[in-house]
Amino acid sequence: MIEKSEENTNKSNTTFSKEVIDLWNPSDLEVAKFERILTPKWKNKWAESKIIHGKKILDEIPFQSRWKVLEIGCGIGRLVSEFSKTFDFVEGVDFSESMIAFTNEYLKDYENCKVHLNNGIDLSNLHSNKYDFVYSMITFQHIDSKQVIESYIGEIHRVLKKSGYIKLQFMTPSLNSMKDWGTRRGYDFRSNEELLELFSDFNVELEIDPTQEKWIWVRGQV
Ligand SMILES: C[S@@+](CC[C@H](N)C(=O)[O-])C[C@H]1O[C@@H](n2cnc3c(N)ncnc32)[C@H](O)[C@@H]1O
Repeated sequence: MIEKSEENTNKSNTTFSKEVIDLWNPSDLEVAKFERILTPKWKNKWAESKIIHGKKILDEIPFQSRWKVLEIGCGIGRLVSEFSKTFDFVEGVDFSESMIAFTNEYLKDYENCKVHLNNGIDLSNLHSNKYDFVYSMITFQHIDSKQVIESYIGEIHRVLKKSGYIKLQFMTPSLNSMKDWGTRRGYDFRSNEELLELFSDFNVELEIDPTQEKWIWVRGQV
């Protein structure tokens, strides 16, 4: 079990502030769902959100049902549960003990899903060359350290199989849309080029979402 703050470190000595740890460890499931993961406007639309966001993630990905899939920052397993219908095996990581506890309850009847508590920095508890597809949504926008984002991208490369796919959501660079987000604020990339530089080991392109211009997706392959 990872202790909060002091032990929540890795080789890079990155630590998370108490405010960040507290933010992502809500004790109430409704707060987790509609204040941390989605916004209150999604109340009564949880099931719909899974379908809409699930489709967006798989858009332009030539997926196959036999794939092993991994989510970075899985929250309470909203998308893991959605993709359990599509894929043979779906896993998730999250650095929040509360979210992982909620997920284990939420996914208790799903046999093809598994979630892992990680250190918030890397995927050192996961095997190399295991996954066909790694995705992430509404997570990198909350990570305020470029070093941590870079660490995750290197780790995603490690855990993917040869020719494995990625679909990762970020905030569109240079819009400065996170300026009032306080503790939730992630690292603000200055340009698309600065973001793409992190993917030099991948073959990727950027995808703009016309329905949500604040978001940009990195889609591609190892
Ligand atoms: C807004 S929620 C999104 C959850 C899920 N992706 C979804 O769309 O339903 C963001 C999640 O990212 C997790 N998270 C934030 N920073 C993280 C980090 N450095 N490493 C792993 N998980 C992180 C939080 O604990 C939270 O569960």
